[in-house]
This record gives sequence, C-alpha cells and structure tokens, in this order.
Amino acid sequence: MSDVLELAGVSLVRSGKTLLNSVDWQVKEGERWVIMGPNGAGKTTLLQIAGARLHPTTGVAGILDEVMGAVDVFDLRPRIGLASAALASQIPEHETVLNVVVTASYGVTGRWREQYEKLDERRAFRLLHTWGMSTFLNRPFASLSEGERKRVQIARALMTDPELLLLDEPAAGLDLAGREDLIRRLTELAQDEEAPATVLVTHHLEEVPPGFTHAMLMRDGGIVAAGPLGDVLTEEHLSEAFGLPLKVSRADGRYSAVARSA
Ligand SMILES: Nc1ncnc2c1ncn2[C@@H]1O[C@H](COP(=O)(O)OP(=O)(O)O)[C@@H](O)[C@H]1O
Ligand SMILES: [Mg+2]
Repeated sequence: MSDVLELAGVSLVRSGKTLLNSVDWQVKEGERWVIMGPNGAGKTTLLQIAGARLHPTTGVAGILDEVMGAVDVFDLRPRIGLASAALASQIPEHETVLNVVVTASYGVTGRWREQYEKLDERRAFRLLHTWGMSTFLNRPFASLSEGERKRVQIARALMTDPELLLLDEPAAGLDLAGREDLIRRLTELAQDEEAPATVLVTHHLEEVPPGFTHAMLMRDGGIVAAGPLGDVLTEEHLSEAFGLPLKVSRADGRYSAVARSA
C-alpha cells in the first residue's frame, strides 16, 4: 500500500495565529478517515492542505506521492476530489446540475465555452444517477434542497476519478432524513473497493458512516488522537477533544455522544 497522504510536522500560521501545529498524518490507499473536533480546531485548514489548496508554513506535505512545493498543484488537484461549503459558494446560481458535475473535469465552476466530451457527460450522468440526482440534470443548482446540493457536490468531487476524496462537513444543514440518506450512501461508498481513499470531516459522532476505518480528533490546531476508528472514538479521547465529559455509545455500527450528567 502506498501513501495517499504523508504529512510530517505540518504547521500553518496566518496573521500570527497558528492554525495547524506540527501535524503528522498518514493516509494509505483504501482507508476511510473521519476527522472530528470543535469549531476552529483546524479541520478545514487541514483539508485545504490535503487538497493541495494551501501550502504549509513549515513541514512537509506529501500528497499522492508528490511533495507540495515541488509539484505543479494544477497537475495534483484533479487527482483529489473536494467537496466543501467554500467550493459550493463559488457555483453560479443558474448553473445546471449536470454542468456543476461536468465542469469538474476542467477544474472550474461555471460552464463557459469549453467543449465537453460526450464521454465526460456520460460519466457525469452516471455519477448523478448513483447519487440519486439523475432526474435533476437541467435544474439550476440554486433551486435544489440542501440534501440534493450535497449529493451533487459529491458527484462533482468524484468526476475526475480522484485517488483521494475530501468531504468537509457534507451532512451540515441536512434534516434527519437527508442526513440518514447521505450516511447510507457514504456507507456504500466506504465499502466500494474501487472508491478512493476518503477523508470526511464532521462535528457529530452520529454522522460517522459504518465502514469508515480510521479517525482523527483535533483541537487547537493539533491532533488529540489518530488511528484505527475504534481506538480513537473513545469517551476519553472525545471528551478531551471537545472539552467536556461525554458519554459515548455504539449500536448497529453507529456511534452517538451526549454530555455526561454531573
Ligand atoms: N486567514 C486566516 N487568518 C487568521 N485566522 C484564520 C484564517 N483562516 C482561518 N482562521 C482561523 O483558523 C482556525 C481554524 O479554522 P478552520 O480550519 O476553519 O477550523 P474548523 O474547520 O475545524 O472549524 C479558526 O479559529 C479560524 O478562525
Ligand atoms: Mg471547518
């Protein structure tokens, strides 16, 4: 197994503030990671580095056997699928669902004058079908429900057949049915041997899809715990990461957490 991500001593400083503090992290082919931690812990920043969108201030970020700083990021980015609120906000309001997905081939949002190959359109259609969106092809992205938008964004992230898939809070803003639908789909993705190595950021233990293999807990730009899922998602580690005593339970492959009553 080769390394998909190999971060060594990665720090990121912005405006004098340390957003990431000497992070060491390895992700191998076939692994499915969940990253959790309170608001401001540095999860999105870490994903931006893993997605070759940000350079570390210090340390070495190895991504798909390339080293950030020694590779043209425009060669690297198509090999990484990223879905995040920041990216979604760049999608023009009237862009159709099919175009939102197909434009990923060109690393752009917003269809302009590019000539798309029939092959690309067929792949986009197949992905939209898999994610339950094939009857929405010509709908403007802005007219979709939050759950539908999230599924389109994941289809877009998979468009370039990436070797690494990064999902930043895909369940945020979904209602219960939408969340459960998304978790079911992510569970299927996790079990698909052809699927890329995946990193999922979430705030809620309830959103960890069964089949995910590893977890990282972050706090204040650093790692509280990282490794095999069952070793990391313990009451002790989660309580430390979130800064309050938690009671953690697990049933049918799903985790949940509530504050411990005093
Ligand atoms: N350009 C910036 N300058 C200063 N601080 C920033 C900048 N961008 C993000 N931050 C801060 O970095 C911290 C980590 O942010 P982020 O990675 O988005 O955390 P998370 O995704 O875990 O909520 C936050 O406190 C945020 O306010
Ligand atoms: Mg974030």
